[in-house]
Amino acid sequence: MPKFKVLAVVGSEEMRLALRKQFSSDDEIAMVGFAAMDTAVLGKIAGYAPHVVLLAQEEGEAGVMEIAQRIYQGFPGCALVLLAHRLDMRLVRAAMEAGIRQVVAMDDAGSLKDAVIRAAVFEKGRNGETGREPRVIAVYGGKGGAGKTTVAVNLAVALAQTGRRTALVDLCLNYGDAALLLNITARDTIAELVQDKSIFSIDDVKSFSIQHSSGVSVLCSPASPEHAEYITPRHVETLIGTIRPYYDFVVIDLPGNLSECTLTALENSDDILMVSRMDISNLHAAKQALGIFRTLQQEEKLVLLLNAEHKGVLKRRDFEQVLEQSVLQTIPEDAKTARLSQERGVPFVIGMPRTPIAQGVRRLADRWLSERLREGA
Ligand SMILES: Nc1ncnc2c1ncn2[C@@H]1O[C@H](COP(=O)(O)OP(=O)(O)OP(=O)(O)O)[C@@H](O)[C@H]1O
Ligand SMILES: [Mg+2]
Repeated sequence: MPKFKVLAVVGSEEMRLALRKQFSSDDEIAMVGFAAMDTAVLGKIAGYAPHVVLLAQEEGEAGVMEIAQRIYQGFPGCALVLLAHRLDMRLVRAAMEAGIRQVVAMDDAGSLKDAVIRAAVFEKGRNGETGREPRVIAVYGGKGGAGKTTVAVNLAVALAQTGRRTALVDLCLNYGDAALLLNITARDTIAELVQDKSIFSIDDVKSFSIQHSSGVSVLCSPASPEHAEYITPRHVETLIGTIRPYYDFVVIDLPGNLSECTLTALENSDDILMVSRMDISNLHAAKQALGIFRTLQQEEKLVLLLNAEHKGVLKRRDFEQVLEQSVLQTIPEDAKTARLSQERGVPFVIGMPRTPIAQGVRRLADRWLSERLREGA
């Protein structure tokens, strides 16, 4: 059986020796190299392509989480394990937020092998080794208040919770509110990104994004509506093309209008998740949007989600008949949970995971994970 390759980022000679000794004749783990805790470590990872990077938290070492985050974002397929002086909740939480899969105390060398193997095995689930292509999911709906942002934010978080690298891009350029639902205060947004750079790299996008504690990388909408005009369809196209290879899922929250930027986002997405409430004006808007998607030859990408399902006159089958399109799924109405989660800035898939509305979004995420998208429910 091939061994798991481990690169250890350890400064101390003593610890390097101890690790070498511990794994020198291990039949599952191969210690392929050592590096110091500096930016050169990224080059070494590219060279060795290890399954696991073992980071030792050394005395006075403040940058370990920052390096971890950069490895997590830049090297899918490479799992992170932290060797820490002392385990406490604050450290473990910071480690998880930086993408570290396992934390082991330095004086607990006996647990290290198990932690390394578990980290490597879990990591396989989040990277491209599964053979999956990245998916760009545009969340659209012609009607204001249909639940697009609620669905986009919770869907992105639910995907990230499974360990998939997930980005959320708020392209509601005038009045985007995804940041509010995540309790994020963004100094940098897409407006600053496009003002700062005419051509941007993944590092530029990441430096203008915010890493939410769930693991979702969030590029926020402009802080003020008048900044929306800085963003052109060209920017939107470049942005999607730039970030696509670096994530398993990119979720885009779109406004109801069909501006040039919205159309560009729709055209550059793999799936269009059309969110509609179950009333007559939403049905009317969905019918109109569908007509436009047909004209633009985007209909194939469409999946239909009925949000805030309740006992009313219009049923799921009415939507299917009028739209001539099967409904992928419904999400139940739960105004209280939706409102509370919005006010607290904690997506309900995190804060209230047992509610039917949260389970509905999780089921939706599962469809993307298992690619059961266009077969109806
Ligand atoms: N399943 C649901 N049950 C009850 N209320 C919901 C549900 N989904 C969303 N809501 C509520 O509906 C309102 C509108 O939701 P949201 O902001 O997500 O819609 P939107 O389509 O993004 O709106 P906009 O067009 O303004 O961007 C919010 O108050 C939200 O809490
Ligand atoms: Mg919205």
